[in-house]
Amino acid sequence: MSGLRPDQRHSTFKGGKSGIPAIVSGKSSESLVTRYVSGLDPKIIMPPAGERLRAEEIAVLSA
Ligand code: HEM
Repeated sequence: MSGLRPDQRHSTFKGGKSGIPAIVSGKSSESLVTRYVSGLDPKIIMPPAGERLRAEEIAVLSA
């Protein structure tokens, strides 16, 4: 929905429509993927509906 292709390395580092990298190598706190699933940005939380990721899952993603 945002044009982000997490299955494609180039897209993941470039980002989707926001143009902000979904993953910043070695910096999970700056990576949109971990920021959005952690709820660090109150305006955008991922996934936008349904069950949120559990703390253990967020930890795996961050690692
Ligand atoms: C845990 C699962 C998910 C993760 C980690 C995730 C992650 C992200 C990230 C990193 C972006 C920013 C992309 C950009 O650079 O523009 C994004 C945007 C977006 N995602 Fe997700 N997403 C998840 C699940 C979903 C699902 C299930 C949907 C739809 C049902 C969805 C819909 C969207 C939409 C609409 C945007 C654009 C949001 C905006 O800019 O306001 N995402 N997501």
